[in-house]
Amino acid sequence: MEKVYIEFLLSRRSIRKFKDKEVSKDILLKILDIARYAPSARNAQPWEYIVITDKSIIRELSKTRGLASKPLENAAAAIAVVTDPSISPNTHMIDGACTTMYILLAAHALGLGAVWINALDHPVMKKILRIPENKFLLCIIALGYPDEKPKAKPRKPLNELVHYETYKSIGESKDI
Ligand SMILES: Cc1cc2nc3c(=O)[nH]c(=O)nc-3n(C[C@H](O)[C@H](O)[C@H](O)COP(=O)(O)O)c2cc1C
Repeated sequence: MEKVYIEFLLSRRSIRKFKDKEVSKDILLKILDIARYAPSARNAQPWEYIVITDKSIIRELSKTRGLASKPLENAAAAIAVVTDPSISPNTHMIDGACTTMYILLAAHALGLGAVWINALDHPVMKKILRIPENKFLLCIIALGYPDEKPKAKPRKPLNELVHYETYKSIGESKDI
């Protein structure tokens, strides 16, 4: 079982090409029902979600950030993660990142592809989605049935990342 979980985590990819097939509202809600179990500081859960299936809105969003938002162009659905700085001034973005990661993993578990599109309170995206000024648009996740099987992106080697006991400059850490 352990192996299955590890393979699941390692097989997630950012998917940017999607089949022309609808994703049901039930599946999108199922994803969000899982996403709300993400950890957050003080369990404050300073997040809300916007489920977007209207193609004209998704297409409008795809044009806002050049290549970065292009994956939305052919996405069947999108989920915007909106956080509330008044609930968690120091951690709303971190908490929002946690729930976003849960969305990506839940989508993967349900056979969907997804990619995180950074928004970071982008004014045009925020206007399109009619998000109030006092809320923070963290990101928009493009979703759909995958139409590509990308290889894993390269990762930095473990021995360049890990320190033991205290922070040492890389090279001093010869433990592994
Ligand atoms: C905070 C964050 C912001 C990202 N923003 C974008 C984005 O705006 N557009 C995009 O196509 N991918 C975006 N990505 C996806 C990354 O490019 C991707 O996760 C990375 O290249 C590793 O690939 P993998 O997810 O397939 O492992 C973002 C990922 C994260 C975590």
